[in-house]
Amino acid sequence: MARAAARYVCQSCGASFPKWSGRCEACGQWNTIVEEATSDQTPRGLGAGKGRKLDFVALSGAEKGPPRLVTGMAEFDRVCGGGLVPGSALLLGGDPGIGKSTLLLQVAARIAALGPCVYISGEEAIDQVRMRAARLGVGAAKVDLAAATAVRDIVASLETMPAPGVVVIDSIQTMYVDTLDSAPGTVAQVRASAQELIRLAKRRGLSVILVGHVTKEGLIAGPRVLEHMVDTVLYFEGERGHQFRILRAVKNRFGPTDEIGVFEMGDRGLGEVTNPSALFLAERSTEVAGAAVFAGIEGTRPLLVEIQALVAPSPMGTPRRAVVGWDSSRLAQVLAVLEARGGLAFAGNEVYLNVAGGLRIAEPAADLAVAAALVSSLTERAMPRATVVFGEIGLSGEIRPVGHVATRLKEAAKLGFAEAWVPQRRATGTPPPKTPSGEAGLEVRELEHVRDLVAAFQNQTPAASWAPRRNAAPGRG
Ligand code: TYD
Ligand code: MG
Repeated sequence: MARAAARYVCQSCGASFPKWSGRCEACGQWNTIVEEATSDQTPRGLGAGKGRKLDFVALSGAEKGPPRLVTGMAEFDRVCGGGLVPGSALLLGGDPGIGKSTLLLQVAARIAALGPCVYISGEEAIDQVRMRAARLGVGAAKVDLAAATAVRDIVASLETMPAPGVVVIDSIQTMYVDTLDSAPGTVAQVRASAQELIRLAKRRGLSVILVGHVTKEGLIAGPRVLEHMVDTVLYFEGERGHQFRILRAVKNRFGPTDEIGVFEMGDRGLGEVTNPSALFLAERSTEVAGAAVFAGIEGTRPLLVEIQALVAPSPMGTPRRAVVGWDSSRLAQVLAVLEARGGLAFAGNEVYLNVAGGLRIAEPAADLAVAAALVSSLTERAMPRATVVFGEIGLSGEIRPVGHVATRLKEAAKLGFAEAWVPQRRATGTPPPKTPSGEAGLEVRELEHVRDLVAAFQNQTPAASWAPRRNAAPGRG
């Protein structure tokens, strides 16, 4: 029997140390190191035991894609890569209260119509889950429900479950393995519990869905450990004040990782949003300075979203710059390029940038839309009516081509837009356009440099009755 020894394990990254310290040397987080009693597991050599001989096979003769359990909830299936894969493990992460349990109860109800489905709640009592099911209108679904936290009991109960079944564990932080002394939620318990459940999934051909809460630092407790162990990691995100929820694939062994699913939280649970552009533009204010509609791509789908900027004179020596839904260093870069190459002066102004609807955008193609919103706010001139914009901005001020141009234009036309400001595309090999070119029913205006963007606003009449501010006049460069 190995000697029991104490080790100190970081609850954020899982690194272990022989003694306690305030800051984890591996990941740099403070106050994450906790004492965990474990048996001393020094790795030993293989010894004299004989191993089984492996059967080597050729790389060719690939299997056709994995079989899929299609839940019928299209937004969920697409993010998974076309449905759940039997024998796989999926981790659903997200802030507490964002709607993970709601989503999975709705998914479980769909699956129950196709095959066996177990929902194990470690956080809520049976009655609470039943009440929620009734509210979601799925009270009659044939889901096998249990409130349990002991992994030993769960594994014993599922040993006989026929495949392909689905098991939802809500949440992995409440589960415990009784051979470990540490408390549920610690890295050791989370890791051991997940390991047992994943082993069961592989052995029995089940598909296991683990719910993982995100800590306030934005990490699932023991995130690196868990993310390595599962096949698919999905994040459920959204802004508190908005009803939109985005399901995003972060890792997927069986599908793409850039797909998103869009949901709307209502009083009867999560509704699928099949046309997100219409939703994100629904709140759009028309013809005001400081707004630009970005024609983006999320995964395989086009998504139109409004970007809002407010540029206002600042009384402070160091003006504020605040961003919601975009990268703040990217904003600093776009501002610097507009100043140095576009001849605009933002110094002395506070700059606020907001992606409407609580969406987070990561695409470089949003640069031009952000720049358009900024220039529009600074010059107090609105974008022309019904115009979308996209393009990447380089440090020398040039506007660089981006992908999926046809898809973006088609979506814009579908939603009633009449004009698009896009990067020049000659570099990509397409023949020079007859200006202004019509495409997908849109008037397409190609911009080569941020100077062209600034010039485009000079032709616009000032918005409403506001006079342009003194420092707004371009002309420094
Ligand atoms: P929940 O699924 O419990 O979140 P999580 O499991 O991620 O912690 O979601 C709870 C929130 O969702 C709660 O704030 C109430 C809201 N909600 C609705 O708005 N409508 C509904 O029909 C349901 C079931 C929940
Ligand atoms: Mg929950």
